Amino acid sequence: MNSLLSQLIELIIYVLPAMVANGAPVIMNGPPPVDFGRRFIDGRRIFGDGKTWGGLLGGMTAGTLFGAIEAVAVGADLIPYAALASLGALIGDLFGSFIKRRLGLERGQQAPVLDQLGFYVFALLFLYIVGKTFPLVDEVLWALAIYGLHRATNWGAYKLGLKKVPW
Ligand code: CTP
Ligand code: MG
Repeated sequence: MNSLLSQLIELIIYVLPAMVANGAPVIMNGPPPVDFGRRFIDGRRIFGDGKTWGGLLGGMTAGTLFGAIEAVAVGADLIPYAALASLGALIGDLFGSFIKRRLGLERGQQAPVLDQLGFYVFALLFLYIVGKTFPLVDEVLWALAIYGLHRATNWGAYKLGLKKVPW
């Protein structure tokens, strides 16, 4: 098989847990907020009420469990990577909210690209740190797929009443 294509499939297998971890908190969440309501030196919230410990727990659990399901097909070695990619995704999402609050954007306000791809860049970074790397062209291709998917699923979640805004 074309090696870029087989490596794209491998990238997808490694990144799907991160995508699950990023999406799960929409339905698996709960207080307290990660920042416990505290404010940064600029007087705005550190992360805001959209980032909860329940969401981090839900995201880690769902992402790692998804990796365990994939592991049935590709081997148990995947599971720690799934947990690491999930952690990266959730920290990336927190980082995104931190940046949004610093820019004066309220919880739920749109930040193009950051909202859709911040978690993905962090998941790839966390995998990179432990030596799991992928071809840049595959990373970019899958970024485009995630961008579209993120738009579509958030619109769906909005229509289902799970989210207040369609992004
Ligand atoms: N969520 C959570 N904990 C997290 C991430 C998400 O509880 N660590 C939940 C919140 O209910 C949040 C929803 O998932 O409102 C959607 O997540 P997201 O779009 O990332 O948050 P926003 O509400 O848009 O907040 P922000 O502006 O900070 O991105
Ligand atoms: Mg949002």
